[in-house]
Amino acid sequence: MYSSILKRGSFNKVFCAEATGVYIKDSNGREYIDSCSGAVASLGYSNQSITDAMVEQVQRVPFAHTGTFTSEAAESLADLLIKQSNGVFSKVVFSPSGTEAVEVALKLASQFWRINGYEKKNIVLCRELSYHGGSSKTLEVGGQLNRKKYFSKGSNQSENIRVCNVYRNLDSFETVDDYINYCVDSLEREIVNAGAENVSCFLIETVGGSTSGSVTAPKGYFDQIEQLCKKYNILLILDEVMCGLGRTGYYYAYEAECISPDIIAVGKTIAAGYQPLAATLCNNRVADTIESLRSGFVHAGTYVGHNVACAAGFAAQKYVLENSLVDAVNEKGYYLSSVLKRELGNLSIVGDVRGRGFLKSIELVKSKAQNTPFSADENVSEMVKNIGMNNQILLYTCEGFSHKGTSDHILIAPPYICSTDELDCITERVVNTITTVESLLHNTKKRRLSCQPIN
Ligand SMILES: Cc1ncc(COP(=O)(O)O)c(C=O)c1O
Repeated sequence: MYSSILKRGSFNKVFCAEATGVYIKDSNGREYIDSCSGAVASLGYSNQSITDAMVEQVQRVPFAHTGTFTSEAAESLADLLIKQSNGVFSKVVFSPSGTEAVEVALKLASQFWRINGYEKKNIVLCRELSYHGGSSKTLEVGGQLNRKKYFSKGSNQSENIRVCNVYRNLDSFETVDDYINYCVDSLEREIVNAGAENVSCFLIETVGGSTSGSVTAPKGYFDQIEQLCKKYNILLILDEVMCGLGRTGYYYAYEAECISPDIIAVGKTIAAGYQPLAATLCNNRVADTIESLRSGFVHAGTYVGHNVACAAGFAAQKYVLENSLVDAVNEKGYYLSSVLKRELGNLSIVGDVRGRGFLKSIELVKSKAQNTPFSADENVSEMVKNIGMNNQILLYTCEGFSHKGTSDHILIAPPYICSTDELDCITERVVNTITTVESLLHNTKKRRLSCQPIN
């Protein structure tokens, strides 16, 4: 199909015609269950209270520049986000995307240090396999080599800071504590190498997203990370753009780790996909410093705190809380883990099923015994996505590129409103898809013929 829109990704795009509940229909009338919702559409596609709030806001005042005006919607949403942090955070900055929310976090850290007289604290440390956004700066500091290869120098210190993934790396250590120490040491080494006086912050996803694949750290890892940041006077910034706001069965994913970050970025589900919106929250220490300047935070953006986006965000978050959806995700997350593990455990290409709440990943491997990943030219992620479309399921397939090679995983991030029947349907279609991929991989001739979608 010819399109005037610049090609982005190898998948042949399908026209989306309509969407209801947790299902999307294409223009040929084929209906797909949404197992991933782009990790965004937490409330499905037909939430009346969000639609009503947006219409009401559009009719009252669609846009009023935030250089002059604030709005009830923005103030109410900011109050709600702060209240949910139970005293950890005190102020909010809105942005139109997760990338910008992370950029805001980095700018807040930078302005905080400059006001306090630390002119040299400029370095941002992240981990290998981390993704923090698509702008030049967020790509540059992050550890996702494949997405940054045309835009910034390939590797940086992040490549040396280990992600704490027990599935891939535990074997070479005697105990989990030894492995945690090794991962924490890899951060400390980079701080010392760079000189703590030059390091502004450590930016980390609380639960890994699309690149590392829903990696949850073993207990104790985040305690040590927090202590290290304090020891070297470095701000701890959590990227919860994907894992925050209920996705992992906690309102903020860090609640499971019992830590108090300085800054956090959230996005994706904040307005459940009804409007583009994200936010950055900071604690008193950062907020008081920034607000000690007459100018406050030196930052601007035409659409920061957009009225309709904030109205959608407030309605979405109210809906999540009033319907106890965070608890529902927590509870159903255990159910989803158990059925995925039960149904997929015996498949020869499923290496690991991991994650928390409704942020799961299924890691696919060539050899289960050695955890060997597929090579990039086997295009496993693309195959899975196409065969998933044939099986009427939308799958979020990812390639995590580490210094060791590739790894393929399927991210399962269903809408929070999914019933157990719908989770069973997702599981069944995932099993059918992976079983087909498995047999095609064992018969490469057949694979070439069958890996295109029906449409
Ligand atoms: C952890 C994480 N941070 C930041 C971003 C960037 O957010 P956005 O795509 O809304 O700019 C993403 C997007 O996938 C993400 O997963």
